[in-house]
Amino acid sequence: MESFLIKGGVPLRGTVEISGSKNAALPIMAAALLTDEPCVIRRVPDLSDTRFMVQILKSLGAEVSFNRGTVTVHAQKIRGYADYELVRKMRGSICIAGPLLARLRQARISLPGGCIIGARPINLHLKGFAALGANIKIEGGYVDATAKKLTGNSLFLGGRAGPTVLGTANVMMAATLAGGVTVIESAACEPEVVDLADFLSAMGAKISGAGSPTITITGVKKLHGAEHEVIPDRIEAATFIIAAGATNGEVVLRGARADHLRAVIDKLGEAGVSVKRRGKNLVARSGKLKPVDITTLPYAGFPTDVQAQMMALLALAPGISIITERIFESRFMHVSELGRLGADIEIEGPSAIVKGGKPLSGAPVMASDLRASAALVIAGLAAKGETQVNRIYHLDRGYEQMDEKLRKLGARIQRIEEKA
Ligand code: EPU
Repeated sequence: MESFLIKGGVPLRGTVEISGSKNAALPIMAAALLTDEPCVIRRVPDLSDTRFMVQILKSLGAEVSFNRGTVTVHAQKIRGYADYELVRKMRGSICIAGPLLARLRQARISLPGGCIIGARPINLHLKGFAALGANIKIEGGYVDATAKKLTGNSLFLGGRAGPTVLGTANVMMAATLAGGVTVIESAACEPEVVDLADFLSAMGAKISGAGSPTITITGVKKLHGAEHEVIPDRIEAATFIIAAGATNGEVVLRGARADHLRAVIDKLGEAGVSVKRRGKNLVARSGKLKPVDITTLPYAGFPTDVQAQMMALLALAPGISIITERIFESRFMHVSELGRLGADIEIEGPSAIVKGGKPLSGAPVMASDLRASAALVIAGLAAKGETQVNRIYHLDRGYEQMDEKLRKLGARIQRIEEKA
């Protein structure tokens, strides 16, 4: 297994190119299953998760190539059941269910388990499919969704923690080929949902309201091939902005979209990290760090996917910050690892109380999930001495060449084989 070895204390300076969004790319790649014509998807980040999706699409019978950020999918003849082991390994693969159900009227998919950040049920996805007329059976670890025909309906997709991002994507995709009109209420408003709707529209789907809590889809008989460029990764951009803030640096982010980062930019401003537009780029500049309180919320609120990274930053800000996690029930695995570096953080129910300003010093730490890994890298970049972040395969799931990008900004970071 690989690790990052980081020698901290170097302010990050320079320009970083923001990759295409992982969480937009995954459902868009799955959406290519909705047509028997070829689709071309550009600016797909080269990550283990996107490579995994390529494998899944191939296992369903699609011809797929992935070359220099461009994925071509030709799903001329596909089958409706996915390999148990393949799907089980990546939770995001649940978004093949909507397209398979729409195109073949049948989807048989292994039930994705929970993961380290929470239980992650799919009840809302299934509720949406059922509202369109699908029969749902759960048997032997599989979900079986079948339908003689899909019929548009009005449905409410809000759950315990608000809307569901991939649930909205799945139901929206299933509804594109259903008969009549589907209205999704309490739909997720994330930019990734809008990007998917843009791709589906380019394929001939009739969708309005994406980006708002009410999405209306008028079913069509057939979708055709399309080309699309994936939006920049707002979570990667936020991660680099925070890394600049934590190292007292100044970083230009090429291709990041401020309009997708409002809540993050606002909170970072309060915390002493300024983010300004310069032409088509954003410039992040660190100032005197201050404590802030944060609650994660569905878009346009503060994203749960930036909570861990923000905690690393606030561990450096003198004073008390309170971070409340409202989307996932156990997304605080990074707290104890940040503690190894000297951060003083306590968990109280859904909140973490960060007593910031204690000096951080390097230590061996263990990555537990994608964003927790990013938080440990940020803390390691800010800490004095050497930090070894183990199990960075978590990080490689969602950050394209993070070590290389950080090195270009002056960081002393190396990828090594994990020391026993
Ligand atoms: N939920 C339900 N029932 C469902 C679906 C979700 O109760 O049927 C709950 C979840 O347990 C959670 C909340 O609703 O409490 C929101 O989950 P959501 O469905 O929105 O999450 P997701 O669509 O499975 C995507 C991202 C996650 C990101 C979340 C929230 C992808 C591939 N994944 O997951 O990204 O945290 O939205 O924004 O798009 C990451 O990139 O690190 C990551 C975990």
